[in-house]
Amino acid sequence: MNGSVLYNLSLAGDNFLMGIFAPELARNSRAGQFVMLRVSESLDPLLRRPFSFYSLGAGPARKKQPAGNPPGTNPSAAPGIARGTRTRSPDSVEFIYRVVGQGTRIMAHMEVGRPVDILGPLGKPFPLPTEPSEIFLIAGGIGIAPLLVLMEEFQQREPNLFRKCKTTLFFGGRRAADIVGAEDFQVMEIPVRIATEDGSLGEKGVVTDLLLDGESSGKEKLPRLIYTCGPHAMMAAVARLCRQWKAPGYASLECLMGCGFGACLGCVVGRRTPPGRTARAAPSQEPGHDGLGHLRLRPRV
Ligand SMILES: Cc1cc2nc3c(=O)[nH]c(=O)nc-3n(C[C@H](O)[C@H](O)[C@H](O)COP(=O)(O)OP(=O)(O)OC[C@H]3O[C@@H](n4cnc5c(N)ncnc54)[C@H](O)[C@@H]3O)c2cc1C
Ligand code: FES
Repeated sequence: MNGSVLYNLSLAGDNFLMGIFAPELARNSRAGQFVMLRVSESLDPLLRRPFSFYSLGAGPARKKQPAGNPPGTNPSAAPGIARGTRTRSPDSVEFIYRVVGQGTRIMAHMEVGRPVDILGPLGKPFPLPTEPSEIFLIAGGIGIAPLLVLMEEFQQREPNLFRKCKTTLFFGGRRAADIVGAEDFQVMEIPVRIATEDGSLGEKGVVTDLLLDGESSGKEKLPRLIYTCGPHAMMAAVARLCRQWKAPGYASLECLMGCGFGACLGCVVGRRTPPGRTARAAPSQEPGHDGLGHLRLRPRV
């Protein structure tokens, strides 16, 4: 499938927000799914790169609309780096990405109007909440990506249930520049709590420190439901908290990928089996997983 770059904005640090015109993808994809992007027309790099959707289409109608580019946009970006203006539409999809190597470096230089070869949507969607819940969204750095589209889809499909849930985003990073996209949750009136390891934004420490008080707040105790994406060590800590709280949750795993659709077994991850051993299986084939790149966190393992 082909799309074209609508905007490619430099955010804080090495993070970028890319909007792509891709009507079919915008209409047929779900929260938690991802695409494999071909970043170069040459054979170098050979493999496509996987990216989670950050948003699909125009998003839910809101009381407050973010004006123009997101507040995290880097005004001192070098000329030729920040391009275009953020303009979501029913035909657009967004990705938020961090430059870590050759492929993402190429992406950071893509100009408005450049055609993009996209394979997707891939993976299984996040299951949406089914009852009023205390929802904890727990993100580490660029792991924020699949959580915005999840909340937007939930609000659009189940507006009444969305209102009955008490949702909080817990967002961690090494430093302030790792915290990008928080304002998109604030526009949805989702409270955001931030932790950075160097203390440059929010509380000093790791994101799971914010969760240690553990007890549900408020008059009404709602069942807790967790969605998480970030570094594996952070998600392992979140999985331990889920067991402690006896709360179900879903983790979006980001592993090295070859094909993106279950053929190469390149994305195999370890999973603890009941006697305490570690099994290795592709996420798409493992019964404890809800699909490619998704792990269902069990309340008791
Ligand atoms: C399902 C899925 C969804 C993803 N969604 C996003 C997203 O929304 N935003 C985003 O910025 N990134 C996302 N990633 C990670 C992204 O695909 C990689 O950062 C990207 O492929 C790196 O390409 P590169 O050519 O720039 O780096 P490479 O040159 O390929 O690698 C540079 C360095 O980054 C490491 N690396 C590469 N891929 C990963 C990875 N998946 N996890 C951890 N380390 C990695 C390499 O080991 C190497 O050290 C996702 C990955 C998966 C599997
Ligand atoms: S990337 Fe090929 S099976 Fe997962």
